[in-house]
Amino acid sequence: MCGIVGYIGAKDARSIILEGLKNLEYRGYDSAGIALKNANDIKIYKDKGRIKHLCEITDFTFDTNLGIGHTRWATHGIVNYDNSHPHISNNKRFVLVHNGVIENYKKIKYDYLSDYNFYSQTDSEVIVNLIEFYSKKMCTESAIRKVVSKLEGSYALLIMDKENLDTIYCIKNKTPLLLGLSNDGITIASDIIAFPKDVNKYFSFDDQRIAIIKNNDVKLMDYMGFEIDINYKDISLDTYNVSKGDYEHYMLKEIEEQPTVLRRIITNYFNYDDCVIDKKIIDAILDSDKINFVACGTSLYASFMGKYFFEKLCGIPTECFVASELVYSNPLMTKKPIFIFVSQSGETLDCITVMKKYKAQNYKLITLTNNTASTMANLSDYLLDICANPEISVASTKSYVASIAIMSVLAKAVSNKKTNLKNNLNRVSIVIDQIIADLKPVIKNMAKSIKDSKAVFYIGRGIDYWVGLEAALKLKEISYIHTDAYSSGELKHGTIALIEKGTPVIAICTQEGTNSIVRSNLAEAEARGAKGYIISLESLSYSEDDIIIPNVAHYLSPLVSQVVCQMLAYYVALYRGNDIDKPKNLAKSVTVE
Ligand code: M6R
Repeated sequence: MCGIVGYIGAKDARSIILEGLKNLEYRGYDSAGIALKNANDIKIYKDKGRIKHLCEITDFTFDTNLGIGHTRWATHGIVNYDNSHPHISNNKRFVLVHNGVIENYKKIKYDYLSDYNFYSQTDSEVIVNLIEFYSKKMCTESAIRKVVSKLEGSYALLIMDKENLDTIYCIKNKTPLLLGLSNDGITIASDIIAFPKDVNKYFSFDDQRIAIIKNNDVKLMDYMGFEIDINYKDISLDTYNVSKGDYEHYMLKEIEEQPTVLRRIITNYFNYDDCVIDKKIIDAILDSDKINFVACGTSLYASFMGKYFFEKLCGIPTECFVASELVYSNPLMTKKPIFIFVSQSGETLDCITVMKKYKAQNYKLITLTNNTASTMANLSDYLLDICANPEISVASTKSYVASIAIMSVLAKAVSNKKTNLKNNLNRVSIVIDQIIADLKPVIKNMAKSIKDSKAVFYIGRGIDYWVGLEAALKLKEISYIHTDAYSSGELKHGTIALIEKGTPVIAICTQEGTNSIVRSNLAEAEARGAKGYIISLESLSYSEDDIIIPNVAHYLSPLVSQVVCQMLAYYVALYRGNDIDKPKNLAKSVTVE
């Protein structure tokens, strides 16, 4: 969603901020803007549209060593110039960029700012004017502390003050914000990948923190004004590996990286055939009477495999919860549950809210994430890195495969059973390489034949149904074709009414026990006009199947069948001419409710 970058130092702030904003483009946005110190003044450039456009309208002719920038994903107010950030206070003294949502902005407007003019429909403009309101009676630092005592909601804020033009004020509550140090300056950003490459140390703000950055000095404090020590962490080189290389789209690059991701997981999580997992994590799971997975979107669909592994291998009852549902409901808990949160970004607000809720009840929390510097990583008792390296395309691909692989390793470690997991994961990585090398032509043909459809259905049972759910999400989010997945037994209970002549129905057949029945269910749909397709595992295949995947252990089949579905979604979207890496209306990390 929205992205923030600020810089203060010896270099050209404008280039650093614009470059950082470019690296945040993947999060999804519709407008962009930048505020730059120019001698004793602040210059603002902003508009709807892409960073490329922002670069075109920004003045590059003056020297500037301090500034703040923003990419906006509209929540309050339409996409236009006025609603773009930065926002400026009525007396033009304060300039601000904001990520997040202020829930009580209307009340603040009514209670304190009735004399103020508002030029946008945003909640953010209220904050900048509230700072101005208090600054008339006190210093900026005190005014900011007063303001945060009034705000309800989530916010990461960077503020410039025309009367303190050597300073950036930063505030963080519930929305990610990080500060990075390089030899020549300080960068503040909502994601580590927005940092310039020479940042070597960073810290991630806790909630309810204010930082005042003046020249090379950072003062961090809580909302009461008490100073807090900063613990900087090192940054690994992999963090910055976000180039598209020779690929036209990040999505295809990330699909094709999956064998490497699996090999990295094998290297990091195995010692010979033994799983290398912190004993404390194993003991915490063994000490629980139920595992609750919590996640959203792709991470949720990956969690269904976690349930499968833990129940099958460890005999521990396991349930998967949609994070946004748990925010507002209180399902009955067992005596000693443990929670496993799964999130590529580690910044999904619904997950964070649920984490805080259960942390307050003293439950143990484990996070599986691709971002070990994230809010979720910080909130959890135990952390497992899914080792996928940065995932830029809005449509998640490699994080699905990586999360499932880590879940299989964790379940094996907890079960302490002898299995062939390492070899089986190795085999999966080889088969994904084969899919990429050999199956592209058939996948492309299939993509061509479904690209103009009004609706597409995936069907399967058990594991194949869960794969279908994720496959349908992938296809709909980047092709914009209405796609759904059904347990194939459910077709006759209603959905079959939607089948028209030529409606594509794709059956996934990778499980012995359900192979024949899913095929029969597909035949029933075909008898009513559907155009049936079958994606199968070689050992269960028929020669006429549309896509036959080389064999892997059946319990790991989602790691290969999903790759086929990811590629299918990619090529359908490509043939429809869509913006694959940045699909409309979507953001990479969902940091609002
Ligand atoms: O970062 P997270 O894994 O927590 O994100 C969860 C979902 O927002 C994400 O998987 C979303 O569904 C993707 N766009 C799917 O491709």
